[in-house]
Amino acid sequence: MSEGAAKKEERRKFQAIKGTRDLLPPETALWNRVERIAQEVFTSYGFGEIRLPIFEQTDLFARSIGAETDVVSKEMYTFEEKATELPSPRPFFTPRGYTPALEEAFQANPGFNTPENRRRLALLKDHLSTLEQAEVRRDAKASSAAYDHYVAVLETILQGDRVSLRPEATASVCRAYIEHNMQQLPQPVKLYTIGPMFRRERPQKGRYRQFYQIDAEVLGGSDAPGIDAELIEMVMTLFKRLGLEGVELDINSIGDKQCRPKYVELLRAELRKVKDKLGPDSQRRIETNPLRVLDSKLENEQKLIGGMPHIADHLCEECAENYRGVKKELELRGVKYRENWRLVRGLDYYSRTTFEITAKGLGSQNAVCGGGRYDGLMELLGGPPTRATGFAIGEDRLILSLQEAGKRPAAKGRDVYIAWMGEKAYTKAVQAAKNLRAAGFSVELPPVEQKFGKALGQADKLGARYALILGDNEVASGEWTLKTLATGEQAKFTEPTLLDFLQENNAV
Ligand code: HAM
Repeated sequence: MSEGAAKKEERRKFQAIKGTRDLLPPETALWNRVERIAQEVFTSYGFGEIRLPIFEQTDLFARSIGAETDVVSKEMYTFEEKATELPSPRPFFTPRGYTPALEEAFQANPGFNTPENRRRLALLKDHLSTLEQAEVRRDAKASSAAYDHYVAVLETILQGDRVSLRPEATASVCRAYIEHNMQQLPQPVKLYTIGPMFRRERPQKGRYRQFYQIDAEVLGGSDAPGIDAELIEMVMTLFKRLGLEGVELDINSIGDKQCRPKYVELLRAELRKVKDKLGPDSQRRIETNPLRVLDSKLENEQKLIGGMPHIADHLCEECAENYRGVKKELELRGVKYRENWRLVRGLDYYSRTTFEITAKGLGSQNAVCGGGRYDGLMELLGGPPTRATGFAIGEDRLILSLQEAGKRPAAKGRDVYIAWMGEKAYTKAVQAAKNLRAAGFSVELPPVEQKFGKALGQADKLGARYALILGDNEVASGEWTLKTLATGEQAKFTEPTLLDFLQENNAV
């Protein structure tokens, strides 16, 4: 690189990474409002907040969401947590010499002294003992095999764990439920969490690589349809309170372990018959996950897919009964829904009820909330059999839809701008700013002296309601001047009467 090019490179401005963005005021006021109201509504339904780590073991997501799903196979940000604190096996590596050194390093580094690593260490010791016995017997073949096994286990330890930025929150909530023995609490446990998620998707309107979810989960208890219906009622209540427009709820049941596999086979067989007329993505999915073909948005596939068998006709009696129950419970609550037999969702853990909510003004990425029941997931993660259901709202899309409907927060200016001149006035101004702020007003105190004209201009630009004028005269007389910027009116106040006036005029 030439010197000039190097200089240019040095001066290059940084930009937020593709698919990520900064959220700035005043928009952040709307984010805060949405989150505050979500917290209020969720609390009124008995939910408590859980805060989760932003990264977890990759396997947690692979096992929950499904290794074959787009989210896990293509979209996760994954990196290796290298085991750099462990002793290097080189240069005089022998399993006999190395194993105790490794054990010592595990003791010294609590981070590596995990159940998983202890299990691997025990395996190493087994292979070492097999190796030693084979050497005593002078069995070259057995000793070489034991050596290879030893090295393979060692490699997994040295490689460290693979971790991923979370693409969603449900897997982490389940991990936490198991880790903290929440099955011992009164069931069901109702939790919500709000925070960023990460998926390496192609960015477009309403689709980002770092996006935010408002997630709620009901864990444990029964599979009573009232639980699903109340959860859906809760999110619809939130959307209503926020004034979200064009809200539509789609529901479906995708059956369970008993009935779904049979339907999937039937669907696969039917799809194979029309395989040649489908695009490459759908053709691949016929083999990997035929349910996902139902999700296709391709214009020329719609007619063919429309003719496929409906899962509702293939549910087992328990699932059919449960689905009828959910619909009845929704009606009881006055929640309007549309049945959509093609709603299958893109994550593997669902069973029975699934749902999605769309809203106005979002273009092709119009799902503002997705969720459903996932009764088998907890067991899949090594926990006790646990019924569970939940949803996640895409907060970015929710905000986008509110903004498109004109629900922008009014930019809130300062209540009081303090225009001061002179050293004595400054001392008063600092104190007045502190007192007014303590009383709940938003106050701007310029740090350097400026002429009154300039100060008033600045107060105007900041959208202040009042300018408090403090000069030598005001300090000497103890009578301060307050100017109402919209009308230009001026009035004199002593310090205590000023506070009374502002409070009466409801500036807080
Ligand atoms: P999901 O359908 O993958 O479900 O995501 C839920 C919502 O997050 C979507 O409806 C959408 O609004 C938003 N979303 C997803 N990806 C993006 C993106 N790249 N950019 C912006 N918004 C996005 C789940 O994540 C499940 N964990 C929901 C759940 C909770 N099911 C049971 N419990």
